[in-house]
Amino acid sequence: MNAPEFLPPFTAGGKIMLVGLGPGSHDHLTARARAAIAEADTVIGYVTYIRLVADLLAGKEVIRKSMTEELDRAIEALERARRGRKVALVSSGDAGVYGMAGPTFEVLFQAGWTPDCGVEVEIVPGASALNTCAALVGAPLTHDFCAISLSDLLTPWPTIARRLDAVAYADFVVALYNPKSGRRTRQIVEAQRLFLRHRRPDTPVAIVKSAYRPKQRIEFTTLDRMAEADIGMLSTVLIGNSNTFVREGLMVTPRGYGWLQRIRASGLGAAQLAADHRLPEDYIAALLAEEDAVAARL
Ligand SMILES: C[S@@+](CC[C@H](N)C(=O)[O-])C[C@H]1O[C@@H](n2cnc3c(N)ncnc32)[C@H](O)[C@@H]1O
Repeated sequence: MNAPEFLPPFTAGGKIMLVGLGPGSHDHLTARARAAIAEADTVIGYVTYIRLVADLLAGKEVIRKSMTEELDRAIEALERARRGRKVALVSSGDAGVYGMAGPTFEVLFQAGWTPDCGVEVEIVPGASALNTCAALVGAPLTHDFCAISLSDLLTPWPTIARRLDAVAYADFVVALYNPKSGRRTRQIVEAQRLFLRHRRPDTPVAIVKSAYRPKQRIEFTTLDRMAEADIGMLSTVLIGNSNTFVREGLMVTPRGYGWLQRIRASGLGAAQLAADHRLPEDYIAALLAEEDAVAARL
């Protein structure tokens, strides 16, 4: 990326606020996000995000951009902040999670910005889709989890596929962002195929569409049926790990597995346990020895 040459010099007093709006309802907009928008004289964002806060924008300059114009949004923000204006760049969820924070810093550094150059940058955190979608379906993220975006517009598919395969193997709970759009329909099928190589077909899956927005929709399904579900651009897909269960309409991943206790109680040898848990045999043997030593002291 080349430095935008048309930008004016830095003027003290300018500010860029990277504001995470949360899922979209005002109840879940933080007090700081609301105050940051009030403080701004210019608000820039993807047209759908601007719509989410339309009632907070009276008297402000509002710049609506299309989804693909992320760098343009950042350049416009910098252009104004350099002239001393206060600009809110709004993202859904959190601006640092597949949001505007990264592209904005890329543009800032290209333009020679430093923290003491007169243009202040503030990142205002918001609840990301994985938090809000998890809250709607129960407690799926109570153990190790990760997020993967299925959008291959900026990331080559082999990179995404490699990450999907690795986290499926490692038994993480996974939140899939950008799972499907009108044009991108294959990625969710490929993700399912990779997960089924490592996970049981009946692994719980929750699909949350438009969380905390008027068209909110929640669907529980299983890994082998995931790709048939109603999934769109505004969906987040939560895939459980091997311990996740659904009960009373809630998806829950247990916090602790009592693994060491179960190992000891199983009576199995280190070689079998190593194979069952896909861990090195000497590691298992050391754990068993430690457990035996603890038991001997009791
Ligand atoms: C470009 S990413 C933006 C993520 C956002 N910055 C965040 O932290 O949630 C867009 C993706 O976020 C997820 N998403 C955002 N808002 C959502 C909502 N209200 N309900 C469900 N998923 C949402 C969807 O997976 C969507 O494809």
